[in-house]
Amino acid sequence: MTKNFKRTTVTSALPYANGPVHIGHLAGVYIPADIYVRYLRLKGEDVLFVGGSDEHGVPITIKARNEGITPQDVVNRYHTMIKKSFEEFGISFDIYSRTSSETHKKTASDFFKTLYDKKEFIEQTSEQYYDEEAKQFLADRYIIGTCPHCGNERAYGDQCEACGTSLSPLDLINPKSTISGSTPVLKETKHWYLPLDKHENWLRKWILEDHKEWKPNVYGQCKSWLDMGLQPRAVTRDLDWGVPVPVEGAEGKVLYVWFDAPIGYISNTIELLPDSWEKWWKDPETRLLHFIGKDNIVFHCIVFPAMLKAEGSFILPDNVPANEFLNLEGDKISTSRNWAVWLHEYLVDFPEKQDILRYVLTANAPETKDNDFTWKDFQARNNNELVAIFGNFVNRALVLTHKYFDGKVPARGEMTDYEKEIVSQISNSKFQIQNLLDNFRFRDAQKEAMNLARIGNKYLADTEPWKLAKNDMARVATIMNISLQITANLSIAFEPFLPFSSARLREMLHLPAFNWADLGSIQFLPEGHRLGEAKLLFEKIEDEAIEAQVLKLQKTKEENAVTSVTSVTPVKENIAFDDFTKLDIRVGTVLDCQKVPKADKLLQFKIDDGLGGRTIVSGIAQYYAPEDLIGKQVCFIANLAPRKLKGIDSEGMILSAEDADGKLVVISPSGTVKPGSEVG
Ligand code: MF3
Ligand code: ZN
Repeated sequence: MTKNFKRTTVTSALPYANGPVHIGHLAGVYIPADIYVRYLRLKGEDVLFVGGSDEHGVPITIKARNEGITPQDVVNRYHTMIKKSFEEFGISFDIYSRTSSETHKKTASDFFKTLYDKKEFIEQTSEQYYDEEAKQFLADRYIIGTCPHCGNERAYGDQCEACGTSLSPLDLINPKSTISGSTPVLKETKHWYLPLDKHENWLRKWILEDHKEWKPNVYGQCKSWLDMGLQPRAVTRDLDWGVPVPVEGAEGKVLYVWFDAPIGYISNTIELLPDSWEKWWKDPETRLLHFIGKDNIVFHCIVFPAMLKAEGSFILPDNVPANEFLNLEGDKISTSRNWAVWLHEYLVDFPEKQDILRYVLTANAPETKDNDFTWKDFQARNNNELVAIFGNFVNRALVLTHKYFDGKVPARGEMTDYEKEIVSQISNSKFQIQNLLDNFRFRDAQKEAMNLARIGNKYLADTEPWKLAKNDMARVATIMNISLQITANLSIAFEPFLPFSSARLREMLHLPAFNWADLGSIQFLPEGHRLGEAKLLFEKIEDEAIEAQVLKLQKTKEENAVTSVTSVTPVKENIAFDDFTKLDIRVGTVLDCQKVPKADKLLQFKIDDGLGGRTIVSGIAQYYAPEDLIGKQVCFIANLAPRKLKGIDSEGMILSAEDADGKLVVISPSGTVKPGSEVG
């Protein structure tokens, strides 16, 4: 911390209320935020932790339409579920509210009006697709058509999920409204834009010069946005779900979800503290922190700060510790493919084991790169670390004290050099944990806390007090005293990470009051202090429990395979034989294949077509390593008009089809054929 702040406002991204929350949410955003907040509270700092559900946006309206219910019904269902999951996992929000609340609608509406009155927006009229049957403008996601890059016929107006290219609805070939199925028409509509280009200069200085301490992943992403040059961004939409745009001539328009959602942090603070909220948002001595996932970086580091600055009376974030993504058993977590560990389901299978998941997710937190959650690792970390080190040490310390000293903390005598060394390690460890937490390095901080338990465990193994009990009770007393002081330290060090276990441990130790300042000391369990009953802090997880989880995921994979078979696209309208003969499909041999620079999805092929060779660009880079395709024979359309993709002339299209997992597989002849052979 460079500056001395009086208080800290911590926000964590408002999850969309269109599905339950899973381990990816927890690992990326809510656990780190909660650890940090608990740490500050333990230090006695003034902190406010704000959360809530993000209840606007097009996907919620699509879900409602599909289920035949209202968007409000959708968000009511998921807001309740999400809120409950967070409570169950000990995410200690001071408030968890929602953006469909009246307070929020008013706050967001007023915020827009202030910027509008200050002339901070530009107005622009553009042509957008309109569904004449449904009598409404179509959000990008409500339009599907053929992708101009890869030919996928079910590309959305904002993105083609087959080749990953981001699109605008006007790029789609043969667009159709998903509401009525009709072909939409272009119609003029007016919107308000936040001219980010006008904010570029101060943003550059503020981020690139004044916040060099931001995490490299965050700083790097901001830098590339700024280097590409900022454009005005529309902050309104033609939609009937959201906060109405509070100006004349804006009937039927709402604030864009990414405009209203971050204002939700402010609204929720107002809801909690109607009379004193301003100091948390406007006092320069308040430190504002946003905990988010990497897909939210641009909104929290560029767009929202520009909104706050334009408004004029707000502080800007001091840091935005964004995380990367967590994968599950090697695959991207996906709500639509049900590839996730849902928090509410986890607690059915592992009741009261919140802390184990918290521990494992922090140990594997995707702090600097994407990371993987596996059930095997979950089991190993529980059995080999929580049970074998932490739990085992605490249990031995308590049980032995009950056995030899009737459950009372014995007097500590003269310490050996080894013991003095342990004492200094404990106080050292405090500063390390602190330093790591201050720098949002939660994985390493937790590792360091675990190290305290390792020290204790080793100490008991080395000194073997159970052997000394026959002839040197004074030594046993000293050993048990030191061991108990370590357990007390553990209950504090782990409070931010494992709040439930830490509370249970304090109960066993009869340790009511505690704070961060006590950590590192070996004084705070006084001689004669009576301990509570020794109970097991953690229990072993058996193979069967893990196998059941792995099986559950396997089933999901199989179900996905079945649904993708049953959801085969209907056959298109019949065509005349003449039309078929127009198509020239051939087989060629791949001579060379490489990634197209700066295009994640594209591969550039050099194909031997028997006619002197040709270049084809194809959107399958996600599915193949280029070198694996060299030498392979592929089918391609030979007479497709050439197109430029990322500056490369692509002469044709390589044919591919989806496998059961939705991955594209190239179509090859089953035996080797002559390059240039016609398929027909
Ligand atoms: N709902 C968004 C998401 O899940 C996050 C919104 S964060 C806020 O990606 F700042 F806009 F609230
Ligand atoms: Zn595409």
